Amino acid sequence: MSIVNSVLELIGNTPIVKLSKFDTGPCDLFIKLEADNPGGSIKDRIAVCMIEAAEQEGKIKPGGTIIEATAGNTGLGLGLVAAQKGYKLILVIPDKMSPDKIRHIRAMGVDVRLTRSDVQKGHPEYYQDYAKRLAAEIPNSFFIDQFSNPNNPKTHKIDTGPEILRQMDGKLDAMVVGVGSSGTVTGLGQYFHENAPGCEMIVADPVGSILADTINTGHTPQAGSWLVEGIGEDFLPPICDISLVKKAYAIRDQEAFNTQRELLQKEGIIAGSSTGTLLSAALRYCREQTEPKRVLTLAADTGNKYLSKSFNDSWLADQGLLERESHGDLRDLIARPMDSGDMVTVTSDDNLITTYKRMRMFDVSQLPVMDDGMIVGLIDESDILLGIYEDKDNFQMKVSTVMVTNLETVPPSAAIDDIVNLFKEDKVAIIAEAGEFFGLITQIDLINHLRKNMG
Ligand SMILES: Cc1ncc(COP(=O)(O)O)c(C=O)c1O
Repeated sequence: MSIVNSVLELIGNTPIVKLSKFDTGPCDLFIKLEADNPGGSIKDRIAVCMIEAAEQEGKIKPGGTIIEATAGNTGLGLGLVAAQKGYKLILVIPDKMSPDKIRHIRAMGVDVRLTRSDVQKGHPEYYQDYAKRLAAEIPNSFFIDQFSNPNNPKTHKIDTGPEILRQMDGKLDAMVVGVGSSGTVTGLGQYFHENAPGCEMIVADPVGSILADTINTGHTPQAGSWLVEGIGEDFLPPICDISLVKKAYAIRDQEAFNTQRELLQKEGIIAGSSTGTLLSAALRYCREQTEPKRVLTLAADTGNKYLSKSFNDSWLADQGLLERESHGDLRDLIARPMDSGDMVTVTSDDNLITTYKRMRMFDVSQLPVMDDGMIVGLIDESDILLGIYEDKDNFQMKVSTVMVTNLETVPPSAAIDDIVNLFKEDKVAIIAEAGEFFGLITQIDLINHLRKNMG
């Protein structure tokens, strides 16, 4: 590709890769890398289309403010376009979204309003209701409203759909997509219905979302919750047309995250968590077929946004999604067990600057001090602070000079009440027995454990 004059010219025309390392039954499975858009996702496409349509319809005036409720990717796309065109942008984002995405959006200079992810439509803190309210309050503002904006599906009908058929030489038997705002499923569904009538539309939906049941049975269940980002719904968006969808697969978070990693390990493609859902569904579809078919799915966004979440074993463990041996005792509450290789430690010979950097890197406030496989002390932020407060050269001091050594250990068979009593005395729960150290239980580990067991 030659030199372009704006990143906006780099939106679209994303590559398609044929997957060769998965068992796809009698089918050929392809994946379209929407992560190659400059904002890192499929949503760049709708951002241009929705803003340009609003300009043409006179809904946005120069110097105006664009407002949107978004899980992140649409925000990044809008951020790109708004900056190029000189609009202010306010995004309302639910607080379950990837911190990496939110940092990316903030770094673009966007005004981010975080809101609750545990409330449903109709609640004033629900991200879409919140955005609507802002748009009513702020003069010269326009609520993009991707869930109701007809230019969202239109983008895929006039842009993504034709691009796909061109790339596939007009031969496409099934398209597997996720549903967030439903722009993709609606636009592609309508385009393929008219231009590739044999192509089956297949939806990949997280377990907990209402779509799979609605599509497969016509019955809309109560929404649950899920961790995959960008897809799954607790209501049917006004622009949603699922009448052209043949079948839906409900995919658990665990399967999605496993498949997301498999895609990276087998094919070298680092894609987002929703791609795990889409690819899991596409693989099931392919393996169910009795005749060869050409099947396409999407890597809707890049996996770089999820390095601290679904690609992070500690995060998976916090969500109860990492399969670890169960002991039926306090060892099951240790987030970074000694024998897992996840435990972050220092030695008594390390200096304070090393300890500080390690705490920052792994986002922990205390570390066990280990010499020759044995725990000999504990060091926390206050030990470092008091060590260096008078003289910053003390960052070179050895851990052994400030660490706490009168350790109180708890055997794995102790009760949760015992560690709560330690927390009340501002102590740390060191789980050890007969000279063997298993790991630490922190207060957040216990909170996570209690939350997981809420049922
Ligand atoms: C991360 C992500 N966002 C959005 C979408 C689709 O979005 P929409 O239904 O809003 O077009 C997908 C679909 O696969 C996705 O994976």
